[in-house]
Amino acid sequence: MERTLKMTSVNSNWDDFHKKDISEKLPFFTRDGRLYDCLFAQQFDRKLLTSLFKTADALRAITQKKEGMDHAGSLLSHTRAMLYFVQPSTRTFLSFLNACHILGVKTSEIRDTSTSSEVKGESPEDTVRTFSSYVDMIIMRHPTPGFVEKTAWLMNLTNRPVPIINGGSGKDQHPTQALLDSYTLYRSFNGDMDNKKIVMVGDLKRGRTVRSLTYLMKNYKNISLAFVSPEQFRMEPDILEFLKRHNIPFTETGDFRSVMGEADAIYMTRIQDEHDHSGESKAVDYSPFYFRSEHLKLIKKTCVIMHPLPRRNEIETSVDADPRAVFWRQERNGMWARAALIAHIFGADQKITR
Ligand code: CP
Repeated sequence: MERTLKMTSVNSNWDDFHKKDISEKLPFFTRDGRLYDCLFAQQFDRKLLTSLFKTADALRAITQKKEGMDHAGSLLSHTRAMLYFVQPSTRTFLSFLNACHILGVKTSEIRDTSTSSEVKGESPEDTVRTFSSYVDMIIMRHPTPGFVEKTAWLMNLTNRPVPIINGGSGKDQHPTQALLDSYTLYRSFNGDMDNKKIVMVGDLKRGRTVRSLTYLMKNYKNISLAFVSPEQFRMEPDILEFLKRHNIPFTETGDFRSVMGEADAIYMTRIQDEHDHSGESKAVDYSPFYFRSEHLKLIKKTCVIMHPLPRRNEIETSVDADPRAVFWRQERNGMWARAALIAHIFGADQKITR
């Protein structure tokens, strides 16, 4: 990949760069008209999303047969990836790992800083830079907000940059979850993403998945959103301002039942108590934000029930058998959507056709 990075004094100082408006930052993470680093949901426009969904659909179709799987596995067999997941993960880690394997990418992993030289005092920045000595791409999940972006910025200033993919950073962003969520909506609605009402439920303040998915909604026409949450966990003002700026109507309520019947998609989330400072989640009654079997008769026949998972009690397990419950499919969609993204970054998507 050609480097087209423009070095300026602002780009070479992290604090100055970090403060820049997102629209000014995005070119820094793009090469030759393609995503290079995938850090923010705002990097996905409608054209790119549609292209990624088509690649994901093609990939899942061709890999049903051995020759298709062999072809997919040859596409990036010259490529190595590091999975640096130092915050717990089941789905994001495994779906990225298997996405890499589908495309033939060889993988290494660190899942706990106690097994890396960070215990000897190496900085996280130097640790990540070390990975780039061995691999061609770094996929990472990190608890510190902004650290994944900082890593990509840092790598882009070195003479051996490698693409960085954000697998979840602090409470701010989870862009590839938003990608797989919108891929699930795309498949559930047979490609017709416009004119939909999406209801997001739960801990919206600290849920990075709902934040990232909300950003993607600007790509579709006539979307409206309803945010359902406890008072303490309402959606943050920066996201509400984003919606106002893009003329996307939204409502906020604590009364889940009042909006269920209008929803084309209900996106459930768990309480994010790992972000508590002093056990504040315990003071909240989360039970009004559960989806129960009795609610199935209140929602549209075409409504889909989603959840990024893992769940606790937000969706009764008896709901799983209802055809409108798509969260297990959503989780599997993640592997195909992430494989499509990796193929795009390395320019291999052109070779994935049915
Ligand atoms: N949805 C999600 O990010 O799941 P994991 O935390 O298991 O990766």
